[in-house]
Amino acid sequence: MEQSRIAHSIGIALDRFIKNNQEQFQYASGELSQLLRDIALASKVVNREVNKAGLIDIMGALGSQNSAGDQQQKLDVLANIRFTRALSKGGEVCALISEETESFVDLNNEGKYVIAIDPLDGSSNIDVNVSIGTIFSVYRRKSPEGTPIKDIDILQKGSEQVAAGYILYGSSTMLVYTTGHGVNGFTYEPSLGEYFLSYPDLKMPEDGKIFSVNEGPYNSFSTGMKNYISYCKEKNFTARYIGSLVADFHRNMLKGGIYIYPATNKDPTGKLRLMYECNSLAFIAEQAGGSATNGKNRILDIEPRTLHQRTPFYVGSKRMVEKAESFE
Ligand code: AHG
Ligand code: MN
Ligand code: MN
Repeated sequence: MEQSRIAHSIGIALDRFIKNNQEQFQYASGELSQLLRDIALASKVVNREVNKAGLIDIMGALGSQNSAGDQQQKLDVLANIRFTRALSKGGEVCALISEETESFVDLNNEGKYVIAIDPLDGSSNIDVNVSIGTIFSVYRRKSPEGTPIKDIDILQKGSEQVAAGYILYGSSTMLVYTTGHGVNGFTYEPSLGEYFLSYPDLKMPEDGKIFSVNEGPYNSFSTGMKNYISYCKEKNFTARYIGSLVADFHRNMLKGGIYIYPATNKDPTGKLRLMYECNSLAFIAEQAGGSATNGKNRILDIEPRTLHQRTPFYVGSKRMVEKAESFE
């Protein structure tokens, strides 16, 4: 979108923005627009629940574990239900990959799209009133419609995403997404129940001074990673780590910075999940002028082998990611 058109559209409601920019969607037949609206609607429901978290009995652990063996929080499960319901009712999505379900869900419909979702990211922060999020990736299905879902539909590379986004339930609630034509951010106005464009054509600063890494497992970091952290400290960079990937990523995108979750003894291939955490944010980072790698290779080029595959993750301002990689 040209600059003048963007400037004029600040404050435009999400629905109208999607409609006005329909031509930017690959295969612009309206389904992808509807899918984004479904996600926005489900996020409003989740936002309401997140905001009431201390008042009704939805905080705390559920007593079960998810696909990755993490403790499931009640809100993890609730958010998964909200998004699954909205997307299956919509009919545009034929299959769903979620952090909260072991295998993918075949919705047995004619939908053209496959979604990978982390319904609630940063769940350790739910009970302590710290920002959390939702992350999603959208793919086009490859096998013919009306046939059972196959691996080629599910295990697609990040570079094949047709859209990606996140919702940040923070001091305000935001929805940020890309369809491969730059990144736009919308802020939720709760009294009107609507998202409005607040950050048109978001660009990540090329360089920055914020580094975000959990240094707890420092002793098991690679020598390169340890040296990069020393470099950040020698340069007097600022350390910021919320522990919610969406929130850390969002801050770094606005201010310039790098988020790293490296390989550790506990998680030798990193902790974060390729399909519904890293790919989506990598696509957004690149669309905003930043970059995302596993320390060596571009995240979007990684061929996924399993749904819940993990990867080391370096994402943020282009120069900072290059510098961090040079230490590996
Ligand atoms: P999730 O709540 O979806 O399992 O994701 C948690 C992730 C991510 O949000 C965060 O950056 C990271 O885990 C925090 O991990 P540490 O507590 O190990 O730093
Ligand atoms: Mn997560
Ligand atoms: Mn999660």
